[in-house]
Amino acid sequence: MSKIITLDESTINKIAAGEVVERPAAVVKELVENSIDAGATRINIEIKKGGISFIKVSDNGSGIEEDDVVIAFDRHSTSKIKHSTELSSIMSLGFRGEALASIAAVSKVEMVTRTKSKPYGIQINLTGGNIENISQTGAPIGTLIAVRDIFYNTPARFKFLKRDATEAGYVSDIVNRIALSNPSISIKLESNGSTIINTPGNNDLLSTIVSIYGTDVGKSVLEINYNDDLVSITGYAGEPKISRSNRNYQSIFVNGRYVKSKLITSAIDEAYRTYLMKNRLISIFN
Ligand SMILES: Nc1ncnc2c1ncn2[C@@H]1O[C@H](COP(=O)(O)OP(=O)(O)OP(=O)(O)O)[C@@H](O)[C@H]1O
Ligand SMILES: [Mg+2]
Repeated sequence: MSKIITLDESTINKIAAGEVVERPAAVVKELVENSIDAGATRINIEIKKGGISFIKVSDNGSGIEEDDVVIAFDRHSTSKIKHSTELSSIMSLGFRGEALASIAAVSKVEMVTRTKSKPYGIQINLTGGNIENISQTGAPIGTLIAVRDIFYNTPARFKFLKRDATEAGYVSDIVNRIALSNPSISIKLESNGSTIINTPGNNDLLSTIVSIYGTDVGKSVLEINYNDDLVSITGYAGEPKISRSNRNYQSIFVNGRYVKSKLITSAIDEAYRTYLMKNRLISIFN
């Protein structure tokens, strides 16, 4: 008797979801990156209980066409590439068509979206990836996605979540980094009703740094601007007096994506070696 079966769609999505969204911060990252890809200039994020009970991301981006609202939640559905040949020249942050399907599979999702070509918006509600409701509604242009009760249907994953405050910390770390790499977008994060991050979105990296780390840090950073045939490096590097003992305050971006690179961090360590004991420093590259 045969023993191999093909898993049903809902099981496939739940398994795949674990890889894309292992915690609330990953949900926030995926939703905010979608807002950036949609050309938003203002993104508001709200979380409750570290994002475990509630995450809301709203943007003033392009919105999703009425006919695309359902398909946006299917796996491997994306508007960002059409063919594998485009993989080497991707300009967007997303391209897999996995995020919304994964998030929806393991939570309760509400989305309201409106494009500028329509006088009304579309609201859709999904529970564990199943559509509960879809209807027209009044809405501003852009997209709002609320994610409730992450991992309510995957208890094994739920168990691995940390305390609310720890999860909230992961969310603000990710939002800080996204904000630093997008100074032209005004990004606000509220946690349990209090504002944690609020960047001006005036396309000035220094004022973004000040809004995140405060004026004292803003006064102690030096601008970096380097260009040659191969690379262009811009950003700010902290003076030795604001050095830290860990790398939490180092953010390195390559082509707009936050990266952790031993090669780059050891080059920075080397440059500061004679100025610092064993401390690290604040460096923000873009
Ligand atoms: N905030 C948004 N504004 C406008 N369109 C959106 C938004 N969020 C999602 N979409 C649309 O839904 C599609 C599916 O989103 P999803 O995040 O699942 O995939 P992706 O961004 O294309 O790829 P990835 O899985 O790598 O993030 C996107 O390709 C985009 O067309
Ligand atoms: Mg995406």
